[in-house]
Parts: sequence; C-alpha cells; structure tokens
Amino acid sequence: MPVRSQNNAWVLETQHTAYALGLNPAGLLTHRYWGAKLPYIEDYPAAPAPDGWASFNNPPQRTPEEYPTFHEIKFTEPCLKTTFSDGTRTTVLAFDRAEIVGEELRLHLRDQHYPLTVTLHYRAYPDYDLIERWATLRNTGSDPIQLERVWSAQWHVPEGEPYHLTHLYGHWMGEFQIQRAPLTQGVTVLESRRIHTSHHHSPYFALDRGATETSGEVWFGALAWSGNWKIAAEATDFGSTRINIGLNDWDFGWALRPGEDFVTPTTIAGYTPDGFGAASRTLHDYVRQTILPHGNVIHPMLYNSWEAVFFDVDVESQSRVAEVAASLGVELFVMDDGWFHGRNLDNAGLGDWWPDEKKFPDGLKPLVDRVNALGMDFGIWIEPEMVNPDSDLYRAHPDWVLHFANRERVTGRGQLILNLARKDVQDYLIEKLDKVLSDNPIKFIKWDMNRTVSEPGWPDYEGEAREVWVRYVQGVYRLWQTLRERHPDVLFQSCSGGGGRVDMGILRYADQVWPSDNTRATARLGIQEGFSLAMPALIMEAQVTEMEREVSLTFRFHAAMCGVLGISADITRWSESEREEARRWIALYKQIRPIVQLGDQYRLRSAQFGGGLSGVQYMRKDKREGVLFAFRTYIPDPALPQRLRLQGLNPEARYTVEGFDGVKSGAGWMRQDIVVPLMNFDSIVRRIHQV
Ligand code: DGJ
Repeated sequence: MPVRSQNNAWVLETQHTAYALGLNPAGLLTHRYWGAKLPYIEDYPAAPAPDGWASFNNPPQRTPEEYPTFHEIKFTEPCLKTTFSDGTRTTVLAFDRAEIVGEELRLHLRDQHYPLTVTLHYRAYPDYDLIERWATLRNTGSDPIQLERVWSAQWHVPEGEPYHLTHLYGHWMGEFQIQRAPLTQGVTVLESRRIHTSHHHSPYFALDRGATETSGEVWFGALAWSGNWKIAAEATDFGSTRINIGLNDWDFGWALRPGEDFVTPTTIAGYTPDGFGAASRTLHDYVRQTILPHGNVIHPMLYNSWEAVFFDVDVESQSRVAEVAASLGVELFVMDDGWFHGRNLDNAGLGDWWPDEKKFPDGLKPLVDRVNALGMDFGIWIEPEMVNPDSDLYRAHPDWVLHFANRERVTGRGQLILNLARKDVQDYLIEKLDKVLSDNPIKFIKWDMNRTVSEPGWPDYEGEAREVWVRYVQGVYRLWQTLRERHPDVLFQSCSGGGGRVDMGILRYADQVWPSDNTRATARLGIQEGFSLAMPALIMEAQVTEMEREVSLTFRFHAAMCGVLGISADITRWSESEREEARRWIALYKQIRPIVQLGDQYRLRSAQFGGGLSGVQYMRKDKREGVLFAFRTYIPDPALPQRLRLQGLNPEARYTVEGFDGVKSGAGWMRQDIVVPLMNFDSIVRRIHQV
C-alpha cells in the first residue's frame, strides 16, 4: 500500500523512498520527511511543533508547511495568493479531511472564512520512486475569487547543511547547459515568461549536498507544463531549503468563478542516494513508461528536409531525395517547412494549412505515394500557433492574434502568435490540420513554434484578461489532444525553434522532441548530456547534418546515434563513399537502438565539463548487452591518457567490450578505467556483450 496513514499523519511509500507529512500540534499541514524508506511508520519524525524564539524569528517562518499561503507574519515564499471579493488578500487554510484513492492521497483544506477549498493531491509511483503533486482549488461561494499565485507544490528537503542546486539553462542554439551552484540564502528564481517552456531554463531541478554522477543523495523534480512556469528555490535564513514550483505568477491572473475548479499542473519529484545518474534513469523510465502517448516503442530513423533545402520543397526535389534516403535505410521521410500555401520564405503562409498550389498542384498525395512506394512513412512540419500577416488567415481574422489595443503588433521571424486561448482559433486549426492528416497517410508531425511572446493581450475577452497565459497552453493541449485522438497512429514531435518546448507536460501529447537547432555534433554532445538529466534518449531526435562538415561523418553519425538517429542534409550530393558509410551506421543503429532508446543510460564522462573527452553508455535493462560511445573534441596539453569507466554492468557476469582485450566480470570492468586512445574529433562506438 503506497499510502499509510496514522493520526492525521501520512507516509507515501515507493519501492525505496518515503515522503511523510502530517498535521502539527497547531493543526498545520507540515512536512516531516523525504528520503530513504524506513522500516516502521514510527521511524518517521513527527511533524515539527511550532518553533520560534522572538517575534521576528517566529514559528510561521520556521514551519515547513506543505502548501503555505499568504497570511500571518511570514515572509518565506507562499504557494498561494488570492484576493476575495471584499478585498481580503490573505488565505487561511484549515485541514478538513483526508482521502486515499488508490495510490493517491487527497488532503482537503478549506479557508476558515471564505468559500475556497484547496485539495492537495499526492500520488506515489512505487516503481519509479517518484511522488507527484498538484492542487485543485474550488470556489464554493457566489463571488469570483481572484487567484494571483497558485503553485503546484512546495518541496522540502532535509534541513541542515546547505545544498547545491543543479538546473538547466541556455538559449536558442545552446539549450540544456548544466549549472550546479551553491544555493545561498534567499530565493533563486528560474522561470519562463515567454509563453512556451523556453530555451533558457527548463522546469527541472536537483538538490544535493555533495553528490556525484554515481553516488550521493539527490532530490530532483520537474514540472509538467508548457507555458510560463517558475521555480523559486529558497534557502531560508533558518537553515531550511524549499523548492517552490508551478505556474509563473508573473502577470498571472485567474478569476475563479463560483462553482469552478482550478487545477494546477503536476510536479513530479524523487529522491535517490545514488547520484545524478540514478536520478536521470528514474526520470527516463517514468517518462517512457507513464507519460508518453505511445509508451515504450522504438522510434523510426528519419530524414528531414530542412537543413538540405530549407523552404525549397516540391514534388520533384523531394522525390529525388526520397530515393536516396530510402537507399540509405531511412524509415520516415519528413518534409519540413515550405509545403503549405504561399510559403516560400519565413514572411508568408503561416496559418494557411493546405498544400501550396504551385509546389504541390495535385496536393501532397503524389509525393506521399512515392515515399510510401519506396518503403518509407511520410511526415510533415507544421507551426499551428503562428500566423504571418501575409496570409489568408490573418487577412480574414486580424483579431485572432494575441495583441493589445493601440499597440504595435511586434512580429518575430515575421510572424504573430495566434490566440490559442480562443476556441474559434482552436477549431479553425483542428479543421485545417485534421483535413491534411485525413487526406494523406501522414505518420509523423513535427510541431514547431518559432517565436516568443509580445503583447499577450486578448482585448475582447470578457473575463480576467491575464488568464490568457494559462488558457493559451490549455488551447495548445486541446488542439494536440484532438488531433491525436483523431489520428492515433501519428507520431508527434515537439519542436520550438529547437528545444524551446521540452517538458513533461507536452510529453503527454508528443512522442519525441527536437532538442536544438544547433546540429554541430561537437556542440550537440553537451546539449544531449544536459537533455539527459531529465529526458530519455528515446525522445531525443538527433540528426546528422552539414552544419559542421569539418567534423567527420563518422563522428557526426556517432553523436546522433546517441538519440533517435536522423539525417538532415542534401544527401543527393553525398558521394558514393559517404552514402556507403551512412548505410553502415544506419544498419548498426538499427541493431543497437533498442538499447539506446529503451535501455538505461550512463553518463561516463561529461561533454560539458570532461575536458574534451566524453563518454556515454547504454545498457539493456537485463544488463546482457550494451553500447559505449566516446568522443574527443579537444586535446589538453599535456595530453594525459583518456580514461573512462564503464557502469551499469552486472558485477558477477562476464563481459567483452568490443575493441578492448579480455573477458572480465562486470566488477572487473567497472573497477578499472579503460583507456580510449582517440585523436581529436575522433569517436568510437563499441558493443558490450555478456558472455
Ligand atoms: C525551426 C526548427 O527548429 C527547424 O528544425 C525547422 O523546422 C525550422 N524551424 C523551419 O522553419
């Protein structure tokens, strides 16, 4: 039973961890414990009694409340801030009752005076050692209640020694950079205000007090939301550390109408005593096995037209490329941007989702048929949330974009953002995209989003206009879900100018993501490493391109084989020897991809911090087979032997590692380094076998 309860105290148990909370003597819902599972319920600490020693250092600031609100003499971050209709701006919640529904614990709280109830949801995922949290607010009265901040959770880690916070930062062309830094007193804010998840920060965190890749305690988590989000990591002046996570309260507003609910996005979090690698593998399993729409299935090897011809797609050019692609072993042929009405450059066409009459006079079908006849599936690129001012859609509905009255509509990449919060906009897109998918046997959609927000207005909305931030994302989800329901066999990819929309919210709808527009293999190694902190290789599209032709084709293939292998290059111009090499790597990839996509990933040496040598290993779940990749991008002076150490083998079993002498036990391999003699910009892929 994953939820145990005793005297208004609850313990959520997973296979190896426990999370305990309960009412303290003052009746406040208080955090008690989060860490390794303990044998008896009595082992968990009691909820801490109110503790303070002066009016300035008072109990409210020192109590680890599970879901603190704005009230009392308290200046640590609250999760909830509201305004009631008479102007009262504090929320005073009292515990009402608890409910255990399967693996979910629901704690019902209600305001002492006003008609607001708050339900805190906790769900244990025993197999993944993860806890999921979210909150539901209900207005049980007859006047609207204004919500100004509603976070999903406050996660408490053990008090005492200070922590390091690990998070991901970056920018377009340089996503998923790893930052690990001491969390000092005060509030560290990570956020997106861009209407999508963003390239700049990811809704992911990890806290540790001296962990490494392979050992040490790590508390980690993420938020499942694809719009404005916020993490406020607070190290209080009283020695406690909390991660607040949820919707961004910046410019947020929601008028909770009588009888209505507001449900926050979910946050998932876990604890491991075994370092950052174990934390990542837990999240990988969770994403693959519980979130993804198609679950644990192998993703196909694809060709994408973008970096080969940009907008210059038509039946003839694409058919020629398709023939070469098929001869290399490609399984899915994706036509990127440029196929729809009026789209020759980035300044026109978005919004008009039907085939361009000049490029595709008979629709897409003739091309799709040719691609299918070559034995490949067919996919297309779309960017539904956008419109170019030069489009039939905008000419007909200029009021359908996000905008403010009397303000210039600022374009980005020549486009404006459709107000996806509007049902008429959603319905238009559903109709157009459904038609494209129904008219053609399309098996893959790359869903792009190429600008961030300006003028987030919705002038003709009669309610609270700032709801647009959340309603926009809900609209995106509805659009995505409707298309998925109508076309269940289609694989969807989330792209936002590369990795601008990678989060656990979108992965309920998207099968995979495009992590970055930077396809230089040397840069990609670091991006892929950061990506792997929270996300599995199964969802990481990785392409061989010509952005870095000075690096060998071998290296570029090896880097891309660490995810879902693809190619985006003018392969009609590749020499016969290049094609031959491509064929070999693709064939090998097809053999090893069950291990890469569905196995366990071990980061052996960091591409971001490893001094020019990096290594990553994937093992089948049963540990019988694995694959090792190593890359060299820099030779330090003096050049020291380049060392890696394998992980994840069964210590007792005996293994061979291709290219290295001898048969050794798993322990034998894992307790000694292997020396990888790589020249600069060299790489290897080696298979590991149990004998
Ligand atoms: C940005 C994407 O990240 C690229 O891969 C490509 O699809 C272009 N948009 C097309 O406009």
